Amino acid sequence: MQDQINQYTLEIDEFAPANPAQLEEFRIKYLGTKGIVKDLFEQFKAVSPEEKRVLGKVLNQFKQLAEAKFNEYKEAFESESHSGGTDMDLTLPGEGYTVGSRHPLSLVRNEIIDIFKRLGFVVAEGPEIEDDWHNFSALNFPAEHPARDMQDTFFIKKDDGNDIALRTHTSSVQVRMMENGKPPFRAIMPGRVYRNEAISARAHCFFHQVEGLYIDENVSFSDLKQTLYHFVQELYGEGTKVRFRPSYFPFTEPSAEMDISCTICKGSGCNMCKYTGWVEILGCGMVDPNVLENCGIDSKKYTGFAFGMGIERIANLKWVIRDLRLFSENDTRFLKQFKTEII
Ligand code: DAH
Repeated sequence: MQDQINQYTLEIDEFAPANPAQLEEFRIKYLGTKGIVKDLFEQFKAVSPEEKRVLGKVLNQFKQLAEAKFNEYKEAFESESHSGGTDMDLTLPGEGYTVGSRHPLSLVRNEIIDIFKRLGFVVAEGPEIEDDWHNFSALNFPAEHPARDMQDTFFIKKDDGNDIALRTHTSSVQVRMMENGKPPFRAIMPGRVYRNEAISARAHCFFHQVEGLYIDENVSFSDLKQTLYHFVQELYGEGTKVRFRPSYFPFTEPSAEMDISCTICKGSGCNMCKYTGWVEILGCGMVDPNVLENCGIDSKKYTGFAFGMGIERIANLKWVIRDLRLFSENDTRFLKQFKTEII
């Protein structure tokens, strides 16, 4: 028995478990209910009284040795797992962050702003809730103009000439700019506008525009044409054709609408251009002298041009988005396709 104990003592001295599972094996082997310590104590019962005196002490020491070994490693493993654990695999890849992307309308708006900034235009903004003066009257809309109708405009307050409404176009910002400053003005004005329309794939009750205004001495229609021609070459690439068609807006005289050669079929005819080869992208004209005077600007000294375009329309010609509603539904499956670099 003494030999057995010596043998086991050596084993225990050398034992150094690498993990809690090995320690548990050790516990079962030596200290378990069918373990070695228990077994030795059973054998001990059968030895002679003389031997018992010697062996009793040895056996107790052996038991304490096994218990001490077990407790030593038990504590070591416990404190390790409290301080962060060892069985965590630090080489595994971490959880990634989902990187967002800019909204397609923001991408187009920023591109438009960049082009006009290079021509010396500044960016201005105005309120989305407007009074009658800034949205209609100062812009030369006659009292009975259909745009003032409830069918077209969201009114917040009806008050005989002092109506308050959600602005129907960004042209109202032109008025604010001219009232609050002195010429020359060279600015673009991006923003959201509202119309009383039933929502469908082709129309929405809100959308976005960029307004442009250039007022100085001796500004002519050829300045307007050259500026917008340059803009189109920058936005859609060299060689994109433009044409101006006479039109009517209360706040410009003369007025025009500008078409560009269809960016989708390059003029050969497709769904987008309704097989004409041309698509309209903006309205423009020379600022009506009445508007200048309404805003306190001497129309004998100053002239200028203005233009306004829909951002959704420009985005549509870039990416062919068949349903306008996609722009405001925040469906990430749609939005994450526009992975243009974040500026
Ligand atoms: N305000 C017009 C609209 O919403 C667009 C427009 C046309 C703006 C001609 C202008 C302009 O500044 O000169 O349809």
